[in-house]
Amino acid sequence: MIRALVVEKDAETGKTSAAVREIAESDLPQAEVTVAVEYSTVNYKDGLCIGPGGGLVRKYPHVPGIDFAGTVEASSDARYKPGDKVVLTGWRVGEAHWGGYAQKARVKADWLVPLPEGLSTRQAMAVGTAGFTAMLAVMALEDHGLVPGHGPVLVTGAAGGVGSVATAILAHLGHEVAAVTGRPEQEGYLRGLGATQIVPREEINETVKRPLESETWAGCVDAVGGTMLARVLGQMKYGASVAAVGLAGGAALPATVIPFLLRAVNLLGIDSVMQPHENRLRAWGRIARDLPMEKLEAMVVPATLDDLPRLGAEILKGQVRGRVVVDVNG
Ligand SMILES: NC(=O)c1ccc[n+]([C@@H]2O[C@H](COP(=O)([O-])OP(=O)(O)OC[C@H]3O[C@@H](n4cnc5c(N)ncnc54)[C@H](OP(=O)(O)O)[C@@H]3O)[C@@H](O)[C@H]2O)c1
Repeated sequence: MIRALVVEKDAETGKTSAAVREIAESDLPQAEVTVAVEYSTVNYKDGLCIGPGGGLVRKYPHVPGIDFAGTVEASSDARYKPGDKVVLTGWRVGEAHWGGYAQKARVKADWLVPLPEGLSTRQAMAVGTAGFTAMLAVMALEDHGLVPGHGPVLVTGAAGGVGSVATAILAHLGHEVAAVTGRPEQEGYLRGLGATQIVPREEINETVKRPLESETWAGCVDAVGGTMLARVLGQMKYGASVAAVGLAGGAALPATVIPFLLRAVNLLGIDSVMQPHENRLRAWGRIARDLPMEKLEAMVVPATLDDLPRLGAEILKGQVRGRVVVDVNG
């Protein structure tokens, strides 16, 4: 038997409830690779899948956990053998497929990435989907011309998972980082990650009044969307890019096209779920190289399977700081 966080749905009320249970290994879905999971983490999507589902979960009972790292136990695919260390993010694992909130997971070989050299399974999950996505965002900004020295790079939702890792990576790469947060008490934490400027959320979260403001930001990693993203577009420097990662502040975009037309601003979409394998290898390689491990450790909040119902609710309310690392055997 293995321990797992299982979400059930009441057929009558339609309400979901999550609890740690013992399940049989034979309950795991059929797929090529069985992984002894060591660590998982908590992302915004996990909050939805532990709780109300958000339209992401197809079938109950369900085991959430959109990412995990561990050791291959059995594989019918030649690319993996027992003992290999692996990491998984995306591919709708933890939503449409059973995920990482269990002591074992069974998944397709195509979905796995070998753990990059120099990273432990715990560190990989301190990075997790949020950090992997932050790296994809930084890579996209670089591919569109971002280099240090052109001015401050804005990170929105900075004390969250994506924002924390983006702040640490950008600062390490030599960028000046301006961190937007709605939690002033997190200033010390954000400065510790390398932010040199703290922008209060309310200052930048207003509806666009003028489509163009002063040219301020050389780039932006945006985890918030909504009115904040709309406002930021009008504050970008000429030719600069915004990597749109998240929707913590809303899915609407009440903006004008003026920043695109008069300032050649680029809005870059970032998706971590269906990223091609080659780009995943590139991003994990960059993470191992460009994310200072002591900064990563400062973001970690340790947890176990039993903490997940509480943490799932907290991340939906924007109350989780940095990166939760779930020891599934703890
Ligand atoms: N595109 C992809 O593939 C991908 C991958 C991973 C995540 N995401 C998305 O990226 C976003 C961030 O994910 P995460 O894991 O970093 O979540 P998180 O840890 O909850 O961080 C989100 C942060 O956004 C800020 N925030 C929350 N509610 C807000 C509001 N109403 N208005 C303005 N700011 C608000 C908060 O930062 P402060 O307290 O500092 O203000 C919060 O910590 C989510 O929307 C998630 O779904 C997308």
